[in-house]
Amino acid sequence: MSSSSTNSDVTVIGLGLMGGALADALLAAGHRVTVWNRTPGKAADLVSRGALLADSADAAVTASPVTLACVSDYTALRQVLDPGALDGRVLVNLTSGDSAQARDTARWVERPGAVYLDGAIMAVPPVIGTPEAVILVSGPQAAFDTHRALLDALGTATYLGADQGLSALYDVAGLSMMWSVLNGWLQGVALLRTAGVDASVFTPFATLMAQGTAGWLDGYAEQVDSRKFPPDDATLATHAGGLAHLVEESERLGVNAELPRVFAALVDRAVAAGQEGESYAALIDQFARPSRSA
Ligand SMILES: NC(=O)c1ccc[n+]([C@@H]2O[C@H](COP(=O)([O-])OP(=O)(O)OC[C@H]3O[C@@H](n4cnc5c(N)ncnc54)[C@H](OP(=O)(O)O)[C@@H]3O)[C@@H](O)[C@H]2O)c1
Repeated sequence: MSSSSTNSDVTVIGLGLMGGALADALLAAGHRVTVWNRTPGKAADLVSRGALLADSADAAVTASPVTLACVSDYTALRQVLDPGALDGRVLVNLTSGDSAQARDTARWVERPGAVYLDGAIMAVPPVIGTPEAVILVSGPQAAFDTHRALLDALGTATYLGADQGLSALYDVAGLSMMWSVLNGWLQGVALLRTAGVDASVFTPFATLMAQGTAGWLDGYAEQVDSRKFPPDDATLATHAGGLAHLVEESERLGVNAELPRVFAALVDRAVAAGQEGESYAALIDQFARPSRSA
C-alpha cells in the first residue's frame, strides 16, 4: 500500500539489523510507524505487528513528521533520500559516519522547514529499547526536544549540542576509550601468559587498574582545560622510566612491543620538549596535532 495518505508518528528508513530493532522498539512503545526498506521482505514481521509499509522512500518520509534513517552508510542514505521530500519535516540520521559526513549531510538536507539531527547508536540491536542503548544526538535542540519521546523509546537519548558533527565525534572518541582499555588489557594478558598466568586470573587486577585510572580523568580534564599541568601524582619523567620498563620487558619476553613503543615515544617527545616535570595530562600537546610519520 502507499502510505502517502497515512498519518503515522514516525518513519523508519532502513530495516537491517539495527533499523529493524529501531522500528520494533517504536512499535513496542505504542507509536504508529511507517517503514521502508530497499528489500521490502525485511518489513514483513514489522508489518504483521502493525507497521505501515510504504511503497517508496519518498512516500515513507511524507507519511510522518519525523523520519529515522539507519542504512549502511552515508552514500546509501543519499541514494535513498530525496531532501525535497523532507520539507516541513525532521530527519534523524542514525547511520554511522564521520563528523564531516554529518555536517555535509546537514547542508544537503537543510532547507526552509526541514531539520536535520545526526545521531550515533552506542549499542547493539538486542538492547535497543532499553536504557542500556545510548543514542547520541546533535543538531537543533528544539527538534530534539520535540521528538524526545520517540528517541527515548529507543534507549537513553543524549543531546550533545547544535553542531551536527558532534554525535559522530563522540562516537569515535568513545570508541577510542574502548579500544585503549581493550588493547592495554591484551598487552597485560600477553605479558602474564609468559609466566603461565591465565587471562581470567589477571583480569580482576586489570579491572581495578582500569577503574582506578578512570578516576583520574576528572582532575586531568581540569588540567587540560586550564592548560596547567602540576605533577600532583607523577611527573612525565617518572612515566618515561616506567614505560621504558614496559618496552624492555615486552621485547625480552618476546611479546608484541608495538603499543608500548608508541606510548613511550609520546612521553619521550614531551620530555624532550621540556615537559618532564609536568603531569601526564601535558601529553595533550602530542595528541592535539597531526601524527608524525614513524
Ligand atoms: N548492528 C549494530 O550493532 C550497529 C551498532 C551501532 C551502529 N550501527 C549502524 O547502523 C547502520 C545500519 O547497520 P545494520 O547493522 O542495520 O546493517 P545491516 O543489517 O547490514 O543493514 C543495512 C541496511 O542498509 C540498507 N542499505 C544498504 N545500502 C543501501 C542502498 N544503497 N540503498 C538502500 N538501502 C541500503 C540495507 O537495505 P537492504 O535490506 O535492502 O540490503 C539495510 O536496510 C550502520 O551505519 C551501522 O554502522 C549498527
